[in-house]
Amino acid sequence: MNLRNYKIAVVPGDGIGKEVIPAGLQALELLAKLEGFSLQPEHFDWGTERYKRENALMPADGAEKMKQFDAILFGSVGAPDVPDHLTLWGLRLAICQPLDQYANVRPTRILPGIQSPLRDLTGINSKLLDWVIVRENTEGEYAGQGGRSHTGLPIEVATDVSVFTRAGIERVMRFAFELAKSRPRKLLTVVTKSNAQRHGMVLWDEVANQISKEYPDVSWDKMLVDAMTVRMTLNPDTIDTIVATNLHADILSDLAAALAGSIGIAPTANLNPERQFPSMFEPIHGSAFDITGKGIANPVGTFWTIQMMLEHLGEQAAADRLMKAIEKVTGDHLL
Ligand code: IPM
Ligand code: MG
Repeated sequence: MNLRNYKIAVVPGDGIGKEVIPAGLQALELLAKLEGFSLQPEHFDWGTERYKRENALMPADGAEKMKQFDAILFGSVGAPDVPDHLTLWGLRLAICQPLDQYANVRPTRILPGIQSPLRDLTGINSKLLDWVIVRENTEGEYAGQGGRSHTGLPIEVATDVSVFTRAGIERVMRFAFELAKSRPRKLLTVVTKSNAQRHGMVLWDEVANQISKEYPDVSWDKMLVDAMTVRMTLNPDTIDTIVATNLHADILSDLAAALAGSIGIAPTANLNPERQFPSMFEPIHGSAFDITGKGIANPVGTFWTIQMMLEHLGEQAAADRLMKAIEKVTGDHLL
């Protein structure tokens, strides 16, 4: 028996997810052949169509079902005729939270052949933007706590309560310091809004300070999230690894992808670093209904996502081969 056999749960989801995931699987099958491992993909038709049919995007035991897999390959979720908060909470977050995928990793680089909107980042200077964003992925502003009451009255109330726990911050902070340490520059920027949000964000700062003592070889600094957008735009070369809360990193990662020239090719990994549960890998772009069905969806985001999945599975040679292929395609302007 081939010990390097991976059970992959495949959830294409909605929109162009159904187009890019099959393309990604083709690449994955080929890599398996070339590098001598095998795959057992299993498909799940979860998403908005199922929601319209059965009133749920996935079965109640969906997350539980995922636990027997080595990894989850996810396309996208969302449709124009279903509110986004239903689709997001019904599928993507309904997998990330119970599987405790607390470290969301978003690498950003300007790939060969891709033009950044930043005028100075051309040619060899395009290498100056090389970041990885670590997004806290299970609590914070996406904790899911809050509610609505007094419906329809002028005093109607709605709350979304951000939840920051010491345990939650410590683990993502340690992950970010480890990641920063593994990269050549060993440089971490901790992003918060601890001037205005004086409880949770101050706890972030305190925990960052505490964990930094375990990593004397990592240089680190703090930025407020608003100022961080300016630094990313004007001094991209002063940044390497970034760690931020769920919402802040969500916003910064869109900016990062735009500054790197395309959100269409950006990948992400939702990691459970302890491997207690499977991790989930997805392109960032979303379901893109405006181009669905036209055959023009760009699968490069999925390829890069699969590269991250292969690294996580320990298939470094296949991951490197795939990254080389991606860079050849972008460099040759085949996009
Ligand atoms: C992302 C996306 C999602 C998020 C959307 C689809 C709700 O923007 O993965 O960054 O905010 O988490
Ligand atoms: Mg986002």
